[in-house]
Amino acid sequence: MAAFIERMGLLVLACVSLFVSSSVAVDRGNFKTCDQSAFCKRQRALKAGQSPYRALLDTLELSDSRVTLQLINDNNKVRLLLELYRLQGNMTRVKINELKPLKPRFEVPDVLVSDPPTEPLSLVSQDDNGVVLSLGAARQQRLIVSARPFRLDIVEGPEVLMSLNSRGLLAFEHLRLRKDTQANPEGAEAKENIDGAEEPAEVKDAADEGAKDEEIDGMWEETFKSHTDTKPNGPTSISLDFSLPGVEHVYGIPEHADNLKLKTTDGGDPYRLYNLDVFQYELYNPMALYGHVPVMLAHNAVRTMGLFWLNAAETWVDISSNTAGKTVFGKMLDYVQGASETPQTDVRWISESGIIDVFIMLGPTPFDVFSQYASLTGTQSFPPLSALAYHQCRWNYNDQEDVKAVDKGFDEHDIPYDFIWLDIEHTDGKRYFTWDPHKFPSPKEMLQGIMDKRRKMVAIVDPHIKVDSGYKIHNAIREQNFYIKNKDGGDYEGWCWPGSAGYPDFTKLEMRDWWASMFDYEHYEGAMENLYTWNDMNEPSVFNGPEVTMHKDAKHGDWEHRDFHNLYGFYVQMATADGLVRRSGGVERPFVLTRAFFAGSQRYGAVWTGDNAAEWDHLKISIPMCLSLGLVGISFCGADVGGFFKTPSTELLVRWYQTGAYQPFFRAHAHLDTPRREPWLFGPENTALIREAVRQRYTLLPYWYQQFYLAHTTGQPVMRPLWVEYPKDTATFNMDDQFLIGKDLLVHPVTEEGARGVTAYLPGHGEVWYDVHTFQKHNGAQSLYIPVTMSSIPVFQRGGSIIPRKLRVRRSSTCMEGDPYTLIVALNTQRTAEGELYMDDGHTFNFNTKKEFAHRSLTFANNVLSSRNLCSDCHFSTPSWIEKVVILGSSNPRQVSLKSDGKETALEFEFDPSVSVLTVRKPGVNAAADWMIQLL
Ligand code: NOJ
Repeated sequence: MAAFIERMGLLVLACVSLFVSSSVAVDRGNFKTCDQSAFCKRQRALKAGQSPYRALLDTLELSDSRVTLQLINDNNKVRLLLELYRLQGNMTRVKINELKPLKPRFEVPDVLVSDPPTEPLSLVSQDDNGVVLSLGAARQQRLIVSARPFRLDIVEGPEVLMSLNSRGLLAFEHLRLRKDTQANPEGAEAKENIDGAEEPAEVKDAADEGAKDEEIDGMWEETFKSHTDTKPNGPTSISLDFSLPGVEHVYGIPEHADNLKLKTTDGGDPYRLYNLDVFQYELYNPMALYGHVPVMLAHNAVRTMGLFWLNAAETWVDISSNTAGKTVFGKMLDYVQGASETPQTDVRWISESGIIDVFIMLGPTPFDVFSQYASLTGTQSFPPLSALAYHQCRWNYNDQEDVKAVDKGFDEHDIPYDFIWLDIEHTDGKRYFTWDPHKFPSPKEMLQGIMDKRRKMVAIVDPHIKVDSGYKIHNAIREQNFYIKNKDGGDYEGWCWPGSAGYPDFTKLEMRDWWASMFDYEHYEGAMENLYTWNDMNEPSVFNGPEVTMHKDAKHGDWEHRDFHNLYGFYVQMATADGLVRRSGGVERPFVLTRAFFAGSQRYGAVWTGDNAAEWDHLKISIPMCLSLGLVGISFCGADVGGFFKTPSTELLVRWYQTGAYQPFFRAHAHLDTPRREPWLFGPENTALIREAVRQRYTLLPYWYQQFYLAHTTGQPVMRPLWVEYPKDTATFNMDDQFLIGKDLLVHPVTEEGARGVTAYLPGHGEVWYDVHTFQKHNGAQSLYIPVTMSSIPVFQRGGSIIPRKLRVRRSSTCMEGDPYTLIVALNTQRTAEGELYMDDGHTFNFNTKKEFAHRSLTFANNVLSSRNLCSDCHFSTPSWIEKVVILGSSNPRQVSLKSDGKETALEFEFDPSVSVLTVRKPGVNAAADWMIQLL
């Protein structure tokens, strides 16, 4: 401990409580509850059923694809402008802003991939009570606008899918002048124009009302601990409620360390969405964490829908349900059914500033919602194949010798790995883009050594920049005026790892451009093409800031940090990924890991779940945390294997490797203050167990890669909850302990200490599942008890699927490039199966720019396994061939023959009757060719 503090120096001593491992959990006092967040408290105090809003039907304007209508708040006469759009792909967009704000309100830039294409909306009817609009004839969907009080219902045929403001919790705090100041906010014209209302006296009353509230509610100033938020714009919060009839299960709104199915928040805090560096986070609560995606999915056995609340300010989400506590295993208890109450979930979103801009994704299937959301914010970036392999990290590998020794350790113990990571200590005094001259005097030599082994490295680059006139990055940012400003216009400074630090304004395009150029080899000295990047602390973390982050009244040009907060990490990763692409002349795919994120972050790389702990519950929670992220587009997710804080027992470490090997981002990481834990430090038996888990990952890389290709092209999650594939099976709606990779692999990792067995649920009536290790066949749908030992990782392949694997053990994924494939064909009860095989160079954009890839469809039917081309304009040649075909659930053929290239050859095979497995040896055909294997 003493050595640790010495190393970090006096500066960090001041904030030592932020990072020293101890047994205490999160200091809740550092973070606000809703009650301590003035706008959340104000909003939550509003009672349902008293909406002051009325739709002014005579203001209705309908253009081809846009409807506008004014709403008036009858209490203060402030008018709002409602905009309705029908978007292509079965979505509706609802925007609400002030009709005439004192100055423009913030609208989130850069998250949508384009202006969403619209479809025509038409007026069906209108009377004094409201307006009915048609959302397109195909689905008989209508949008009903009720005037008094204002309410929106989206209906399909006779069914109400969703209602907005049905509980009357629309609340829009209009911009106003502070009563006791004469100063006009920038851009403000005259007080009379405040809301466009005809009754200036009442408007004035509204402003008076605001002034009156000021002391009680912290509308114009708010203090938390020692920090005062000056709120120059006063109260600006917004809120809207959504009712979901027939829905009992809602998911999403990551990142929270909580169950997959979101809980009701009555009587507790709402789920909070505010990117924060939370030290030693607690599990199973709605506190905010490092990144957030304001997207919620609502699901029942007949329909899945999504809500995307496009707002990057601090946000809280309340959830209530009329069946909370009245269901058992997803089914309503009799007395509720008896009362014939339709289950309903009500959600309410509250944000501190900006406008209401909400996308309603109407599904109706989970996969429709994934593609709807992908059409708005883009899909998962397609990572280099090696990034899907195993990553070895710790805070810190001490010096070049240490790196070399760890690298060698993997070879000596025959464990493959692809990336070794360097944390903040590799820099010269926490000056990013530099190397410690004593510990890392020759980075290129080190990187070359790694490259010679066909491996790679990641070095950390955080967004806080040491204020030091001898540091060229700092000087350049200061000279170009690229730092975020404090409320008084000076460069914002906060404390972070380097001591006093500035925070570049990544919201500015020119700043991002410049940052990206810092990754050019001539700027980033010591970097080579096998060096990739890790962006940490980008919430942003400010050790001495309010809630360990930036002051909300800091400035990004004319906007406040308040408006942009949840977008900061998104921009940091965007600029970094751009830098890695640009340094290669646009050829190479980047790999960037980020801790903070927002909607759309999937376009720029991977995320991890931050500073977890070496505890069994943290291992367990990694499953729902990554599943929630996958549901909202971010597939490339992982948790620190082994747990960041504290020291795992050997059993926990092994189990964590076994779980991590089947999660998308697979990286071991540990806190500076923990004992070393490279895989070979726990005795040969445990080394063997870890080796086996890592090797299982490597054998499945072709399948992982293909799943990421699919995620990239369609927006489907790679790691997915069972209900996504079995949307009608209510038994799957609540599962936190097992998941699917793609649609064909079911994983139920062992996450209990001392486990002797697990009970896995194998879904699908009439389906069969094969244990991937024993090839034993099990019927779905059933809960299956599986006895386990320390070497068990319960994984099942779906009958009806074909999964490609590469079985040769190599040092790294790059060494496996030209290796042959083994196809595992798992037959269903109809004795058919299908799968795909995707191949490209594994690291460039040529798959996209030059169509250099092969995409094969593999099918088994009528005793014939065939491979055919799935794309018309792609081309790719590979030395890889098919070395083995294993058919699960097969019968014993008399003969097996291969047809390829106009020739027919007899193949060797072997049949194991005890498990009905046929192994066909050495078909020897090229993996990118057309071929057929026939069982006779
Ligand atoms: C916090 C990160 O969450 C952790 O992974 C990292 O090791 C430390 N910062 C030091 O950079």
